[in-house]
Formats: sequence, C-alpha cells, structure tokens
Amino acid sequence: MLTLTSIDALRQWRTRQTGSVGFVPTMGALHDGHASLIRRSAVENTATLVSIFVNPAQFGPNEDLDKYPRTLEADLRLCAAAGAQAVFTPDTAMMYPPGFATWVTVEGLTDKLCGRSRPGHFRGVTTVVTKLFNLAQPARAYFGQKDAQQALVLTRMARELNMPLEVITCPTVREPDGLAMSSRNRYLDADQRRRALALVRSLRAIEAAFAAGTRDVPTLRQTGLDVLTPEVDRVDYLEILDAGDLSEIAVVQGKALCAVAAFVGTTRLIDNVLLGA
Ligand code: PAF
Repeated sequence: MLTLTSIDALRQWRTRQTGSVGFVPTMGALHDGHASLIRRSAVENTATLVSIFVNPAQFGPNEDLDKYPRTLEADLRLCAAAGAQAVFTPDTAMMYPPGFATWVTVEGLTDKLCGRSRPGHFRGVTTVVTKLFNLAQPARAYFGQKDAQQALVLTRMARELNMPLEVITCPTVREPDGLAMSSRNRYLDADQRRRALALVRSLRAIEAAFAAGTRDVPTLRQTGLDVLTPEVDRVDYLEILDAGDLSEIAVVQGKALCAVAAFVGTTRLIDNVLLGA
C-alpha cells in the first residue's frame, strides 16, 4: 500500500490507474466502521484510495479540532488490512493554501440537525470533499449512514453539480452493545461510555413504539427523549424528519430519519435510524 503525502503524488498515482477507483474520505482515527467502507470499496472497484485529513474548515471555533485524535500509524495498518491500495495524507497548507477563497455549499438540507448547531460545518465538508473528488476522480465514494445528514448532503451535491461518480451510503457499524462506532468514542471515560448508550437506546425505544403502531411524531419523539434526557449531559436534538429532504413531518407515513445528537461530558455524539424503510 502506498502513502501519498502530496497532491502531485496523488495525481501521479491516479494517472496510473486503469480500472475503477473507489474512494473513502476520512479524518483518520479509523475504526471498524471505516474498515467496512474500505472493504466494500475493495470488492466493488479495481483500486481503493483512502484519504486521511482532519479538515479544519468543518470545525467551529469552540470544537475539538486541536484534540481530534491523530493515529496515523494504526490508521495505515487498518487501511492496508481492509484492502486499500493507497492512502492520501495531505496537510492543511496543501488543501487550503494562503488566500483560499472558494467554497461549495448545499442550501436548505444543511440548515437542519447538525447544520443548525454547527454553523459552517457542512460548507467545510462539501468544500473539502469536492476538492478530494477532483483529485481522486473516483467512480464510487463511500460514506457511513451514521453521518446520515452528511451522506444526504454529499449525495445531493454530487447529483446537482454533475459529479461523475456514485455516492454510496453504507450501514452504521456498532459496538457489540449497540453504540455506533465513532472516532469520538475514544474521548469517553467508563461512566460516559455507559451513559452514551442512551443514544442508541432512545432510537430503539422509538423503533419499538413505531413497530407497535405509533406514527405521531411528537409522541415518538417524547418516547426517545424519556430514555435519552436522564442519561446525557445535554440533548442537542432528537428529531424525526422526512428521510429524503429532511423536511418536518407530523406523522410518519413514508420513510423517516430519526436522528439524535447529545453531549456526554463535553463529547458530542450522533446516531440515527430509519423508520418505515
Ligand atoms: O466523515 C468524515 O470523516 C468527514 O466529514 C469527511 C467526509 C472525511 C470530510 O472531511
């Protein structure tokens, strides 16, 4: 497996590829969720490229950019074991040279959920992913359903900007007790790790109420909040929205996205399930 540390090295690697390239963009601190994306790409493409770049443009001023875990050696081992041919590891000056002034934004979808509590976050994501797509020129790019809003935003961006690739959203990978895998789980101490389970438990409670026939969104939402609120330090949101365009719904009729974000200690965690899928 090659480690490509410059844009030139990536371009040269890309021109040598004759078959399809699958692409898995990441910010490192890789876990089995990322490995599942790389493994799927390895099955569906001739070569798989992973990028590891902690993108400053998607962090707010009071967020965890400085303490975001950086575990490059272990990440490279995981990428090789999962079947990647190359890993692109640019630095910030390469991706955002002085005077950088070009931004990509998807409107509407990015005003909700994480976009509301993290202003500018999705502008950072769509800009860096556009740059990475331009460099990698993949046939397919793989993202996790855990970041459901990100996957919707990037799918929309690729479609509306006629990017010649398929955005593929892969299932959330969970720990044996149900916690969604996340690079941020490593911030949690033992008590916080236990309380973090309230996110998935709240979603499971909503799924159970849905399975029992409840369709009224305020009732479903309250069912989740009753489980979540006593355990976490702050609920950022728990919302049930139309799964296609994230518009508000009063009753679940088609497919709905049930998404939660909450702070456990100072760590902000997210999770979601689809209802009626
Ligand atoms: O999901 C992530 O890790 C990041 O948002 C991404 C897509 C790599 C862009 O920096």
